[in-house]
Amino acid sequence: MSDFHLDDRIYDVIGEEGFARITAEFFLRVPKDDVLSAIYPEDDLEGAEHRLREFLVQRFGGPHRYSAQRGEPRLRARHMPFAIDQLARDRWVQRMGEAVTEAGFDDEVNRVLQAFFDASATFMMNRD
Ligand code: HEM
Repeated sequence: MSDFHLDDRIYDVIGEEGFARITAEFFLRVPKDDVLSAIYPEDDLEGAEHRLREFLVQRFGGPHRYSAQRGEPRLRARHMPFAIDQLARDRWVQRMGEAVTEAGFDDEVNRVLQAFFDASATFMMNRD
């Protein structure tokens, strides 16, 4: 089975709870990371966690609550106000990798999620 089809099934495998675990672990790490804490809005990390969680649920085959609340994702455009260079991109991927590992899914789920985060974070880069 190709990754494309597994993408659609990740929600069925890990559920709301799985995505909640990933984003909770990620946002535990953001305030402790010198690069990421300088980029994220420190007064609204809960909101940022919620938006990321809802997006991931939608992207991986769950309910489309993200778009119902926020409209088209247009994530590259939405990230333009934040200076995302190679260092920030790499740190994001590193912390998300730690979060996914901590969440404790099976290898195939980990591999699909990591591949998505790796490629999408590169796409989000908007500064040299
Ligand atoms: C796999 C890559 C990524 C995905 C899927 C992702 C997803 C998202 C989503 C869904 C939002 C909320 C957009 C909205 O509705 O307003 C968001 C916001 C944000 N992202 Fe990302 N992002 C990624 C990479 C990055 C990277 C590499 C950085 C910086 C290092 C970053 C920093 C931010 C910041 C600062 C916000 C604003 C927080 C907020 O929602 O208030 N993101 N991201």
